[in-house]
Amino acid sequence: MKTTRTVAVGAIAAAALLSSLAQVSTASAQASSGASRPDAGASTDQPLRTLADRAGLRIGTAVDMAAFADDTTYRARIGDEFSSVTAENVMKWEVLEPERGRYDFVAADALVRSARDNGQAVRGHTLVWHNQLPGWLTEGVESGAITPTGLRALLRQHIRTLVGRYKGRIYQWDVANEVIDDDGNLRESIWLSHLGPDYIADAFRWAHQADPKAKLFLNDYNVEGVSAKSDAYLALATRLRADRVPVHGMGVQGHLGVQYGFHPAGMVAENLRRFEALGLETAVTEADVRMVMPPDGTKLQAQAQGYSTLMQGCLLARRCTSFTVWGFTDRYSWIPGWFEGQGAANLLDEDFAPKPAYDAVRADLALAGRPRR
Ligand code: XIL
Repeated sequence: MKTTRTVAVGAIAAAALLSSLAQVSTASAQASSGASRPDAGASTDQPLRTLADRAGLRIGTAVDMAAFADDTTYRARIGDEFSSVTAENVMKWEVLEPERGRYDFVAADALVRSARDNGQAVRGHTLVWHNQLPGWLTEGVESGAITPTGLRALLRQHIRTLVGRYKGRIYQWDVANEVIDDDGNLRESIWLSHLGPDYIADAFRWAHQADPKAKLFLNDYNVEGVSAKSDAYLALATRLRADRVPVHGMGVQGHLGVQYGFHPAGMVAENLRRFEALGLETAVTEADVRMVMPPDGTKLQAQAQGYSTLMQGCLLARRCTSFTVWGFTDRYSWIPGWFEGQGAANLLDEDFAPKPAYDAVRADLALAGRPRR
């Protein structure tokens, strides 16, 4: 049965992929309602990374390094299921340089080492962002102790140190994270107000100097579909490319909620493709689909569809090279702490049992067939 399916799927022309993916939604819906699932059933024993590999895609997860240290089930599952990892927090500035000039790379190093042992790629996250900055930096800027010139030098030093340390070991970096607001304007931040808009180009140039082979990404939320915000990113990416700034990718985070609905897969693909037309790679970088607690069958099914729109959108685009979930088990998730009354956003439940979303993502990957790279 496996052979038959592979042959059949391998024969699907690119133009027919959309309709085959549409059938997957039905197939996975049937699966979670207990009906048979003729197409995807043969792949149930395959981990995500095997299926993703066949589809020409890296599948990743954000890693919570406290859980990684304490929980052997969590750690083993990361190695089994994923071909890419992202540090959920330990490559952020506040963790890496808690006091000025005192670096702490212990947890970041541990993740990079474990990735190497597991044959995983590492996505670096993140170089310039308005959040999770160390207090000494934000307070120094506020008091005037750190001047704009000093701030620029600090950012350059930070990027050189971090990218240089992991040179050759990080395949994609989220260089500029969340630099545009929901209205499509450059986001107000200490970077914009003290360094002006050129800080974005500078960050990419410094990162490229430190590791010329790493793929350098813009990254944000609410840019999965075509919108004012993704339009603004397209304009920004176009300008940066015209100025020969080394920007290589557009990351869509994919923080969704069942209560908001989802862009259809075709729209996600259309959006990714317009970035690809500029010569960029694309990626889904932080997928999770939250819900108002408690979960029920309807919400879990809607969640599966939400994940599928992102996965199918990525598979339908030509250069969507990685798909990363922001945590994979409800046991460890940022959602309850950040969105009151919400949770259950991940592929596996708190006991690591698969939810309908896990089956849906796997079915999408299985039907995508042969590698695109
Ligand atoms: C989140 C982490 O998951 C939390 O643990 C942390 O407290 C706050 O940041 N967009 C991003 C990520 O780019 O870095 C954020 O991660 C989630 C939203």
